[in-house]
Amino acid sequence: MQLHNRVVLVTGGAKRVGWAIASAMAARGAHIVISYRRAATEARAAVKALERRGVQALAVRADLARAVDVRGLMAHITKHFKRLDVLVNCAANFERVPFARLSERAWDHALDANLKGPFLCALYGSRLMRGGGKILNIADWAGVKPYRDYLPYCVSKAGLIGLTKALAKELAPKIQVVAIAPGPVLPPVAFGSAGRARVARRVPLQRWGTPQDIANTAVFLVEGTDFITGSTVFVDGGQLLA
Ligand SMILES: NC(=O)c1ccc[n+]([C@@H]2O[C@H](COP(=O)([O-])OP(=O)(O)OC[C@H]3O[C@@H](n4cnc5c(N)ncnc54)[C@H](OP(=O)(O)O)[C@@H]3O)[C@@H](O)[C@H]2O)c1
Repeated sequence: MQLHNRVVLVTGGAKRVGWAIASAMAARGAHIVISYRRAATEARAAVKALERRGVQALAVRADLARAVDVRGLMAHITKHFKRLDVLVNCAANFERVPFARLSERAWDHALDANLKGPFLCALYGSRLMRGGGKILNIADWAGVKPYRDYLPYCVSKAGLIGLTKALAKELAPKIQVVAIAPGPVLPPVAFGSAGRARVARRVPLQRWGTPQDIANTAVFLVEGTDFITGSTVFVDGGQLLA
C-alpha cells in the first residue's frame, strides 16, 4: 500500500516515537490523525507542522482506555476523512511498580491503556477500512522477555503481540496486522545519563536506537510489502538475544 493520500491514525502521535511515525508517514504524503490525552499543546503544534508539509492533519483528544472516547475519535475521522487506511497503535503508559507494591489499580492502568486501547481502536478503526488497510501495534521486546518491576507493562505488551496474531486472522485478507517490538529507542523523560549508559551496555549493538528506526520500520510495513501479517518485527539492536 502506498501512503500518498491515505488516512493514517497514530495514537499518541503528538510527541516522541508517535511523532516520528506520524512525521515519516506525512513525508510519504499521508493525511494524519493524531490522538492525544494530555499533550494538547504538542498536538496543536504537531498539526501545524504537518499542515506546513502540505498534508491534512487533525488532532483529537481521547483516553483510549475508554470505549466512548475511542468511538468519538472514530466519529471525528469519519466526519473529516470518511475513511481510515492505516492505524498505528502507539500510545501506552510505562510505569515501574515493584512486585511488592502491585495492585489491581496498577494492573488495570497498564492493561486498559496498552491492550484494551489498541483492541478498541482496531475494533472500531477496522470498520472504517472499507477498502482494506493496515494495523501496526507498537509493542516492546519485553512483551516476549519480561524484565522485573514492570509486570503489568510487560504483560500488556505480551497481550498486544497476541492481539496482533488474533486480529491478523480475524481481519484477513483485506487488513494486515503487524506488531513492531522496539528495544530501547528513546529514554523516558526522567531517565538520567547513568541509566541510559546502563541500558546501552545491555544491548548487543551497545547503543540506543532512535524513534526514526521505528518510523522507518512502520513506513516499510505499510509500503514495502502487503504479505506480512500476524508477525512481530523486533527493532531492538539484538536486545532479545541478550
Ligand atoms: N521509548 C522507548 O524506548 C520504547 C521502547 C519499547 C517500546 N516502546 C513503545 O513505543 C511506544 C511509544 O513510546 P514512547 O516512549 O514515545 O511513549 P510515551 O512517551 O511513554 O507515551 C506515548 C503517549 O501515549 C499516550 N497515552 C498514554 N496513556 C494513554 C491513554 N490512556 N489514552 C490515550 N493516550 C495515552 C500519552 O499521551 P499524552 O501525553 O497526550 O497523555 C503519550 O504521549 C509505546 O507503545 C511504548 O510502549 C517505546
